[in-house]
Amino acid sequence: MDPLSPKPPEESDGGHRRRPRYKGKNPRRFEDKYKEHDPLRYPELIERVRGRGATPAGQHIPILAEEILAVLDPKPGERGVDATLGYGGHAARFLARLSPGGQLLALDCDSIELPKTEARLRHAGHGESEFLVRRTNFASLARTLGEVGWHDGVDFLLADLGLSSMQIDDPARGFTFKQAGPLDMRMNRRRGLSAAQLLAHVSEPDLATLLERNADEIRAPLLARELCARRGTLSSTVDLARAVRDALAGTCTEPEADQSVRRVFQALRIEVNDEFGALERLLEQVPDCLRSRGRVALLSFHSGEDRRIKQAFQRHLSQGRLGVVGEAVIRVSAMERRSNPRSASAKLRWAARS
Ligand SMILES: C[S@@+](CC[C@H](N)C(=O)[O-])C[C@H]1O[C@@H](n2cnc3c(N)ncnc32)[C@H](O)[C@@H]1O
Repeated sequence: MDPLSPKPPEESDGGHRRRPRYKGKNPRRFEDKYKEHDPLRYPELIERVRGRGATPAGQHIPILAEEILAVLDPKPGERGVDATLGYGGHAARFLARLSPGGQLLALDCDSIELPKTEARLRHAGHGESEFLVRRTNFASLARTLGEVGWHDGVDFLLADLGLSSMQIDDPARGFTFKQAGPLDMRMNRRRGLSAAQLLAHVSEPDLATLLERNADEIRAPLLARELCARRGTLSSTVDLARAVRDALAGTCTEPEADQSVRRVFQALRIEVNDEFGALERLLEQVPDCLRSRGRVALLSFHSGEDRRIKQAFQRHLSQGRLGVVGEAVIRVSAMERRSNPRSASAKLRWAARS
């Protein structure tokens, strides 16, 4: 078993498998929430968690789902790509619209979550002929389309950027500062350096630059100096959060320090996964991957992503590679924000070929 993956919901006890006790009404630890991890068996509990405006452990609530369906307008017989499958919430809606005769190609670079989502959607009846799944980075979209034989492109494409709730909530992945875990942060565990390895090697000026560039961290030089001074001691999420708070002690309020912790985690995650590089490569390929009248929607969660999307769409429009670009950014309604607070910062942009 991967030592970094969460404990299975059942514990082995000398050959006798015993279910752990459900710890209180609302267990706090991700790995203790085995009922939430089993939504088919405990649907009422899932409803209750959702009713509190929370995301059940091991799930992801699709954001702006109706708005995305409205702009992408998948139709029976069409071909589409979900470049960021995640939990499959958007993909399931696309598949329902594509039948009969349509096909969806779903991509995700996460080798831990992708097989679970694929299994769930296959179990829901989506066979290989209508639902194709590839574990790959969307930065190689054109090559992946070629590999599945879709050389003339697709009718629609969605990329819902960033992390899924399953990734954020699982402390073993190292994305959250709220729980102790290894400082990993790789979406694709098979590639690249973990955040701990990055921090062990990065120079102070490079760290300051990436904190500023990836998360607009206002105290980047100070934090870079302090984090580099602790080089070699930052191997867990709590080590890093504590180091940031210690560095800022006496210079700002506690809520301001919390914001810096959040931004440091965001900046490192973006760097570890080369998120801006992958997005730029995807954006460059989008027009050539769309069929005539093909539609694209991109859902982003911070200004660094949104700025790149806006600029790429405008550039493609001025070069005639896209025919129309949605004028205004689409935001979540107050109701969606209440029922899923994680949707609050989402921005949806869309465009289409002539
Ligand atoms: C916000 S979640 C998508 C949620 C999904 N729309 C749903 O309804 O469940 C983003 C997903 O994209 C994946 N991802 C992020 N960057 C990627 C990239 N460059 N290539 C492929 N997958 C990526 C992540 O692993 C994650 O599963």
